[in-house]
Amino acid sequence: MKEHVHVLADLKNVSPDLFGIPTGTKLDEMFYTIEEKDGRFVRKPLNGIPYKAIINVVGVPDTGKSLLAEQFALYQAHNDYKVMFVTVESPSQFLYGSMKLKAEYLGLDFEKIKNNIIVIDAALGDELRDNPKALMDTMAYVIKEKKTTITVIDSITGLYEAKEVMARQIVRQFFNFLKKWNQTGMFVSQKRSSQGAETAEAAGGLAVAHIVDGTIVMDKKLIETKWDINLYNMPLGSILRTIRIDGCRLAGHDSKTWVFEITEAGTIKIKKPLEQIVNTSK
Ligand SMILES: Nc1ncnc2c1ncn2[C@@H]1O[C@H](COP(=O)(O)OP(=O)(O)OP(=O)(O)O)[C@@H](O)[C@H]1O
Ligand SMILES: [Mg+2]
Repeated sequence: MKEHVHVLADLKNVSPDLFGIPTGTKLDEMFYTIEEKDGRFVRKPLNGIPYKAIINVVGVPDTGKSLLAEQFALYQAHNDYKVMFVTVESPSQFLYGSMKLKAEYLGLDFEKIKNNIIVIDAALGDELRDNPKALMDTMAYVIKEKKTTITVIDSITGLYEAKEVMARQIVRQFFNFLKKWNQTGMFVSQKRSSQGAETAEAAGGLAVAHIVDGTIVMDKKLIETKWDINLYNMPLGSILRTIRIDGCRLAGHDSKTWVFEITEAGTIKIKKPLEQIVNTSK
């Protein structure tokens, strides 16, 4: 029991440094720390998601969660970091082509990337997807053998598909596992149809948001009324895509809703805060 009790001062040596792990998107500028400069506190961008954070990316279907997770993996692999990519939804054979195309489109070095991303396929067959212990053993093997420091799980929801009451326990187990192995992580979480599209709530309820270190919410809106056309200055039938950091307990963050685009290669480009595109004249 005693090993769980600490004087705050003793935690100095185990306290992780606060710096950013870049995603290659504008999200990187949206996390910050505060520094004292000439007697004033000023924001200093982290240039990434906080080191050793587990960030949950939440959204309804087709909002770009997988695209963001892949782009993060590509960017890290391009920068010589080893990434473990656990695919739970989409079988691994689809990843090669889509990652290659995205890397080329983003001007990243795929020759390097392809050896730095280690894929665990938990999509085909249920021996890994339905068995957290077996999956974590496989992940531990990859971390040890391949020296990965970044882990992406797309999606964590897929690991408790038929047993939603287990969501909290399963997310907690994977969260603790990644902490133990000093990984910086990105989880993708799906929503259930009853859950507000713009909230941090995911399948399994708000429990998931409470466990992780931070939540990013991705959303989309069909421009379908005169009001929408006028408010967003967008044509009828187009799609407004938004992203925002809902919360993060490890670092300060921008709290605005940002508009982003999905490019023809399936990459994410965060453009402007939503408040800057809306027409407030009427
Ligand atoms: N190469 C591409 N070109 C244009 N649009 C694309 C491309 N790839 C993906 N998209 C668009 O991006 C959308 C979001 O894709 P993504 O797979 O990231 O969704 P998701 O949020 O992970 O959804 P799900 O919860 O179903 O897994 C797709 O539905 C598609 O409309
Ligand atoms: Mg997806």
